[in-house]
Amino acid sequence: MKSNRRNFLKLSGLAGVGLVGANILPSCIQTIEKGTVSYLDNIRKLSIKQRDQIFNMSGYAAPKMDIVRTGHIGLGRGLTHLTGVSLLEGVEIKALCDLIPEKIEKAKERIAGSGFSPDIYSDDAEGWRKMCDRDDIDLIYIATPWNMHTSMAVYAMEHGKHVCIEVPAATSLEECWQLVETSEKTRKHCMMMENCCYDFFELLTLNMARQGFFGEIVHCEGAYNHNLLEHNFRKTGGYWEMWRLKENAKRNGNLYPTHGLGPVCQVMGINRGDKMDFMVSVTSKDFQMNMTAKELAAEDEFYKEFVDKPYRGNITTSTIRTTCGRTIMVQHDVTSPNVYSRIHKISGTKGAAMKYPLPAKISIGDKWVSDDQYKAIEEEYTPEIIRRVGEMAKQVGGHGGMDFLMNWRTIDCLRNGLPLDQDVYDAALWSSIAPLSEWSVANNSNSIQVPDFTGNSWKTNKPLDLLMEKGGNTKVVRSAPQKES
Ligand SMILES: NC(=O)c1ccc[n+]([C@@H]2O[C@H](COP(=O)([O-])OP(=O)(O)OC[C@H]3O[C@@H](n4cnc5c(N)ncnc54)[C@H](O)[C@@H]3O)[C@@H](O)[C@H]2O)c1
Repeated sequence: MKSNRRNFLKLSGLAGVGLVGANILPSCIQTIEKGTVSYLDNIRKLSIKQRDQIFNMSGYAAPKMDIVRTGHIGLGRGLTHLTGVSLLEGVEIKALCDLIPEKIEKAKERIAGSGFSPDIYSDDAEGWRKMCDRDDIDLIYIATPWNMHTSMAVYAMEHGKHVCIEVPAATSLEECWQLVETSEKTRKHCMMMENCCYDFFELLTLNMARQGFFGEIVHCEGAYNHNLLEHNFRKTGGYWEMWRLKENAKRNGNLYPTHGLGPVCQVMGINRGDKMDFMVSVTSKDFQMNMTAKELAAEDEFYKEFVDKPYRGNITTSTIRTTCGRTIMVQHDVTSPNVYSRIHKISGTKGAAMKYPLPAKISIGDKWVSDDQYKAIEEEYTPEIIRRVGEMAKQVGGHGGMDFLMNWRTIDCLRNGLPLDQDVYDAALWSSIAPLSEWSVANNSNSIQVPDFTGNSWKTNKPLDLLMEKGGNTKVVRSAPQKES
């Protein structure tokens, strides 16, 4: 999705009314609404929670299933997962759930020709529960607004389903702990669909890191720098009931950390040999969201409720130190007019890599490698998963193919009785950075402990087979109806 603020303001009729640019100089005085004391205290308390594991889900593999029967809640982003799994052998799509009839129709169109006739749950906001109550579904995909993810996932696991949840899996530490404890108790997979872990350069650098190319990994960086200003304020055709704008209007911190974090945590073996220790977050003030809300509200009553809300700062930068003495920087900026970037920087004792700005670069010592050396490195370190399904994934599309890779791999692991690539501890940890950053931002960027969701098992958990040494026999039996963007 490309944003174009000038067109946006032109369309809204605001460009000529003297409001644009009214706030060019940063005001030193800004009211930061810090959330209630009890809300913040609770984050602090839950950040130091200690507990014994009920069962270690790291490396857990559910019994293999020949056919994976799926149900899908939320068909905006969820359409991509639906399309991906509909192309695979050994999948049966049993049910679809969304509140918007057009989304259901679009979903049906996407899978027309696949032979599936899923039951539809679209009459009320609780329909998803009926879907989870059924005993003929194995896996529930959840792609709804953030604040619904955990309650839906917990209910589904408690009703015997594995879950694949969109990012972030949870919005509070309570929810993170709830996911962990429910997954352990039910022994159901709880995978957060962090698709950026399946991007091509991210998988290449993961393999290089594992083969020792970078030496010891000292520091990594990731980000979600993506201008969604216009999309957040879109009244029609935007997010359901303006949910994403509302999130940005009430919580101040690094609200969407998992795209940047996921791939670098895998490179660093976080939760498997190292763990996050503490974190600090610094945020700028909000330079754009309230101004946009005011500009729009001057023309349209609809936007009045969004004026003077405690918007999160434009750019939040979080720095994490790990118990083994390494560092991670993760940044969030969803409104400044920047070129899209997830950074993906890896710094080791022998070499480094960085993906944004494109094209990606690799260095040995102090020099970027030449184009020919890059090709040779790529040839040597391209992991099996890309060799096997990379071309097909590019044809199907979905963020350049990474979405299809993720969906194919997830179904393949379930069919082969293998651990999934991301477990509930990853989901909880990567999501927890958002509430932890809220606490740090509200406390003059003081440091806060990062919870150990693994209950100390990070010391003995083994690295996962993320590059596909096992499995890989699930066939693609249909061609995609259209290429995903
Ligand atoms: N990984 C990625 O690249 C990526 C990309 C886009 C979105 N996302 C994530 O996907 C999730 C959904 O985002 P989106 O862009 O599709 O939002 P959206 O607003 O476009 O879609 C959300 C859908 O959820 C449905 N919904 C709301 N309440 C429901 C309920 N009670 N029962 C059933 N359906 C319900 C809505 O009708 C809507 O169709 C978010 O977590 C977002 O962060 C991830």
